[in-house]
Amino acid sequence: MTAPKAVTAVAGTNIALVKYWGKRDAALNLPAAGSLSLTLDRLGTRTTVAFDDGDRDRFVLDGAPAGDAATARVSAFLDRVRARAALARRALVQSENSVPTAAGLASSASGFAALALAATRAAGLELPAPELSALARIGSGSAARSIFGGFVEMARGESADGSDAIARAMPEGDGWEVRLCVAITAVGPKAIGSTAAMTHTARTSPFYDAWLAGVPGDLAAARAAIAARHLPALGAVVERSALRMHAAALAADPAIIYWNAATLAAMDCVHTLRARGTAVFFTIDAGPHVKALCRAADADAVAEALRAVPGVIDCLVAAPGPGARVVEAPGR
Ligand code: DP6
Repeated sequence: MTAPKAVTAVAGTNIALVKYWGKRDAALNLPAAGSLSLTLDRLGTRTTVAFDDGDRDRFVLDGAPAGDAATARVSAFLDRVRARAALARRALVQSENSVPTAAGLASSASGFAALALAATRAAGLELPAPELSALARIGSGSAARSIFGGFVEMARGESADGSDAIARAMPEGDGWEVRLCVAITAVGPKAIGSTAAMTHTARTSPFYDAWLAGVPGDLAAARAAIAARHLPALGAVVERSALRMHAAALAADPAIIYWNAATLAAMDCVHTLRARGTAVFFTIDAGPHVKALCRAADADAVAEALRAVPGVIDCLVAAPGPGARVVEAPGR
């Protein structure tokens, strides 16, 4: 037996500015539309993978053995890596999120991006970034974007095998000093996971088709705003995309409601700041937290205002961050 070769990779989470909400294929996890995001320098995942002689895959999350469902999802992902590398060995996967998983902010985006990179390298594969993105997407759609840093666009793709449903970096956004202020409005995991919620929306919401029909226009507007570094133009798309995604989910039957009272109060705070002259715009994912996009120079004041909102527990300021990378690869 050769000593297990452990590889550690880190990835930042990303926040979608144009949301992904719906799939065109469940097995390959192909999105029904494109999306566009910003990878962050914090709220990420650090994952170490070592293939060894164990009789099954083990997944340790934030220092404790993960539950059966999470372990099965990781193991199914490793099956794809093993098939590609012609490898039979099981693995020990150790992941740490840079915010407690229980805060409801831990993300499958950074998790599967870090896992895709660490697992392929530990299996002896060196995949080019687009292939890594396609692989990460099978774990979680948003993870395809965290392979890359800064502004990132995810393609819907047309092919049945998913090879073109990949993300790409948008270098035209590099160096743009924006920030996302993440207002935490609750503790505990989200009420309904995004996979189940988007499937339920697609099946039961009369607004789902209208939601999808609007995405290409939002993507085009976001691309143009990023190329022009025009924050109000980008911000208009960001709020519209989030609200239309939530409108589709709210109209599902039964309804999916992610917001709480503090979510609405934080949205109102963002609008008040804007009315007073600060260029700040919110987005909301599959949970109650509010993320406010603004210029770096305004971030401290925006975060302070959000922290003062009743029900907001804390507000973290995140900057654009790099894509997934290997940080330790002993024996290499
Ligand atoms: C609201 O990527 O978590 O954050 O592909 O089923 O794992 P799966 O879904 P996931 O969905 C993300 C939903 C979102 C919007 C986004 O990140 O684009």
